Amino acid sequence: MKLTVNGTDHEVDVEDDMPLLWVLRDELGITGPKYGCGIAQCGACTVHMDGVAVRSCQVAAADVDGDITTIEGLRTPTALHVVQDAWIEHQVAQCGYCQSGQIMQAASFLDLNPDPSDDQIDAAMSANLCRCGTYPRIRAAVKTAANRLQEV
Ligand code: FES
Ligand code: FES
Repeated sequence: MKLTVNGTDHEVDVEDDMPLLWVLRDELGITGPKYGCGIAQCGACTVHMDGVAVRSCQVAAADVDGDITTIEGLRTPTALHVVQDAWIEHQVAQCGYCQSGQIMQAASFLDLNPDPSDDQIDAAMSANLCRCGTYPRIRAAVKTAANRLQEV
């Protein structure tokens, strides 16, 4: 298959049903997206496909249709993404395992809804599991990022 990840074109020889998460991690060595459950329940594997958050453990190689962005490619060459800045400001991460997925989910969510309510933030982010319970800091960071987007 051919795919573009973080702006770089790749060609890999994989089975059609290999999950994108495996393609990224095992074939391309891009390890930001994490394996948590493998059954679409945790969100640790979240990446963007044409800017929309998808669970890469559930996207077969043959179904990849669009440019893929992982946490490694979220920032520009000169600046972190506004969500990444907010994450650092609020010191969101604890163990960190879920966090690349959380950030990718938040970035996609704010693209679609740059001025969300608390309930909308909770609804969008609660589907990404965090065993460390960082949800209050996640909500605060998403709100900070949203406020920054309003200022632009
Ligand atoms: S590893 Fe994909 S949702 Fe859990
Ligand atoms: S920070 Fe540890 S699982 Fe979320």
